Amino acid sequence: MIPVHSAPTPSEFSHPNLEPLFSAEQIQTRIAELGAEISRDYAGRNPLMIGVLKGACIFVSDLMRATDLRLGVEFMGISSYGAATRTSGEVRITKDLDVPIEGRDILVVEDIVDTGITLSYLLANLRSRGAQSVKLVALLDKFERREREVEINYLGFKIPDAFVVGYGLDFAERYRNLPYIAILKNPEMQ
Ligand code: IMP
Repeated sequence: MIPVHSAPTPSEFSHPNLEPLFSAEQIQTRIAELGAEISRDYAGRNPLMIGVLKGACIFVSDLMRATDLRLGVEFMGISSYGAATRTSGEVRITKDLDVPIEGRDILVVEDIVDTGITLSYLLANLRSRGAQSVKLVALLDKFERREREVEINYLGFKIPDAFVVGYGLDFAERYRNLPYIAILKNPEMQ
């Protein structure tokens, strides 16, 4: 009988389809700087961080621990790409806040600003609820693809026009668990 050899399963974290862009260490260094800046700017205040699900879940967890303030955290769900790599231009709230934000200082925490369609909608929506202030913290800015103007008050990194995954960012729900950020070289490749 001829033995059947199955191909070894490639590592998910060093998959050949991934080209590393920012290491886990680079990300943490930048987050420590952002946390220190936010701590200075909001000293004596009680901001509410609103993490945008699911992409910002890891970022908000690290950012809040780098921010030495009395603060609250909430999450919102906004529809994004689904299984595709380009936005449909349609924005929908899939999970709303459980608390009123009237009079609060809001820090929206987002993984990436691409066309800006999602954030311009979300920021306007939150401002209409009577918050005292609404500012945006974004880990990544894919500035070349912007269609709607969005002011990013605290930014991690500017990136080129490429599809990125890892550190919370997914492609069809895959790769969110990578400890670093990588460019997905070929979205068709498994
Ligand atoms: P925008 O509305 O085009 O700015 O898209 C924002 C949302 O699209 C982000 O919150 C992400 O969920 C998703 N997105 C945009 N670019 C990427 C990417 O390179 N990788 C993973 N998700 C992305």
